Amino acid sequence: MQIIKTVEELRPIIQEWRSQGLSVGLVPTMGYLHAGHKSLIVKAVSENDRVVVSDFVNPTQFGANEDLSTYPRDLERDAAVCQEAGASLVFHPEPEEMYAPDSCTFVDMDSLTKGLCGKSRPTHFRGVCTVVCKLFHIVTPDRAYFGQKDAQQLAVIRRMVRDLNFGISIVGCPIVREADGLAMSSRNAYLGEEERKAALILHSSLALGEKMLEEGERDARKVREAILGRLNTEPLARVDYVELVDAESLEPVEKAEKPILAAIAVYIGQTRLIDNFTFAGGQQG
Ligand code: PAJ
Repeated sequence: MQIIKTVEELRPIIQEWRSQGLSVGLVPTMGYLHAGHKSLIVKAVSENDRVVVSDFVNPTQFGANEDLSTYPRDLERDAAVCQEAGASLVFHPEPEEMYAPDSCTFVDMDSLTKGLCGKSRPTHFRGVCTVVCKLFHIVTPDRAYFGQKDAQQLAVIRRMVRDLNFGISIVGCPIVREADGLAMSSRNAYLGEEERKAALILHSSLALGEKMLEEGERDARKVREAILGRLNTEPLARVDYVELVDAESLEPVEKAEKPILAAIAVYIGQTRLIDNFTFAGGQQG
């Protein structure tokens, strides 16, 4: 498995694969890989002849007061995870390689990015779309793999690919959790012992909402309030949002009759965590 740091070195490798008629999968990541990332890589390896994992902490998706400088990094460990999962290549550029000092072109989106995480992170999805668009141009994959953990990101990327005719198939992959239910995240590394326990409230609150829906409740407001109520029982938790939205448009819904996304963002101490589930909808059961 190769570790490549520049676009100039990467392009001929991809061209060589293409000339051999090999298919290429891409798994974009910001590194500090865990079993959630690994599941994406394993899936990509099962569906493509060659798999590129990008490992790049993308500065343009962090707000001014966010954790860009402290975001955890460990290339050596990441490379071992990629190798074990069967990746062909890790693309690990420096920020200067991805962004010229006078870089001024961005990919932005009018809808989908204003609500949910976009409310408290107004420039985040512009950064995500821009870097993913660049990675798509650099790697030219047949398929790209994204986790349902970042459900809004997945919806945004699907829309970008449709709107800009990328011709890349986007594969969504299920959320991988710790044994006790906490969704895996590189940011879990920030949690102290007490916070780690408190973080379980995200999953248990969502499980409560999901159970209500499964038992036939269709009033989105009631489900939202139940989730919020449960979250507020945890003293270390500070809720950013709890939303029930249409799974595709991400617009808030009143009734859970079509496929919906229930998504939450919660600060546990200083650490902002997200989690979600989707519900297929259907008539009251
Ligand atoms: P990052 O947070 O490193 O996540 C990389 C990919 O792994 C994303 O598609 C994310 O949804 C997926 N992922 C993370 N935790 C997961 C879990 N517990 N289960 C399943 N999948 C999980 O998301 C980003 O990086 C960046 O925004 C990126 C797309 C790379 C652009 O910079």
